[in-house]
Amino acid sequence: MIDKIKGHIEKVKAFSSETTEDIEKFRIEYLGKKGLLNDFFAEFKNVANDQKKEFGQVLNTLKNTAQDKVAELKASLENEAEATESLQDLTRPGQAIEIGSRHPVEIVKNRIINIFSNIGFNVSEGPEIEDDWHNFTALNLPEYHPARDMQDTFFIQTNPDVLLRTHTSSVQVRYMENNEPPIRTISPGRVYRNEAISARSHCFFHQVEGLYVDKGVSFADLKKTLQYFTTELFGKSKIRLRPSYFPFTEPSAEIDVYWGLETETDYKITKGTGWLEIGGCGMVDPNVLTNCGIDAEIYSGFAFGVGIDRIAMLLHQIQDIRMLSENDIRFLEQFKASF
Ligand code: PHE
Repeated sequence: MIDKIKGHIEKVKAFSSETTEDIEKFRIEYLGKKGLLNDFFAEFKNVANDQKKEFGQVLNTLKNTAQDKVAELKASLENEAEATESLQDLTRPGQAIEIGSRHPVEIVKNRIINIFSNIGFNVSEGPEIEDDWHNFTALNLPEYHPARDMQDTFFIQTNPDVLLRTHTSSVQVRYMENNEPPIRTISPGRVYRNEAISARSHCFFHQVEGLYVDKGVSFADLKKTLQYFTTELFGKSKIRLRPSYFPFTEPSAEIDVYWGLETETDYKITKGTGWLEIGGCGMVDPNVLTNCGIDAEIYSGFAFGVGIDRIAMLLHQIQDIRMLSENDIRFLEQFKASF
């Protein structure tokens, strides 16, 4: 008897059907009032005492297996019905496809990369955790140089030789160490400074720094390159180079773009002057070239650096730099149409 029931368990397991009628027939055969299960249960009293336990267990298994089988087959039938039904109704509205969007910093970064790759610059990258040499010393900023205070630095507490890079000039050092001139490269990336966080500044932001080293590179080349850049990016070709100081360039300048004074916003972002500062630049100090293994007697170069976040804020009318790192989906979704 027990073997017979076990045989049924296997049969139930193997059973499959795709029509409601067959499933119902199957259900009645096993689980119906006059079904096999009830027949077997009726036999219970005739089973020898020492076999009652096993008989009961096997019978229960058969019951559960049959119930599960019926439920499973019915469910898959229903799913199928639903699927065909929705396919048949061609008037149903389509399902909206969610389009992702790029981050505004990424959008501006890509634009800048495009602009410079059109005139032969490649892209170089380096580590965000730097050593003192690449971030400072090689850039003509020896230990105890007061200009180190220009950029408040995050140091790794236990090791002052390890820090979060304060600019991507460190990437340019690495590039010069590993490549021969002519060098034309831009280095986009995230940088860190130990500054109070506000609507205008953050303790991390993004830069693109550019470097051109070759024979006979002049300040005029720098000026023309920057002018090309601002024309492509903003549609504004009037620039001004204001004398400034950076340890790694000589002479050095701040880059201003003439933004105009047509709207109220123009007044606001240029503080009423019409001029907008977008970054720093200069001729690479010969000491820096020498530190990086390039012969400063033969080669000269220019370098510049611009902040991506500020430019993104300007181009997309973003009021608060913190929006750029808060990951608020309502903010990020607004850039769907931009690339
Ligand atoms: N590294 C400078 C900064 O982060 C910018 C800069 C780059 C200035 C290259 C001059 C030349 O402030």
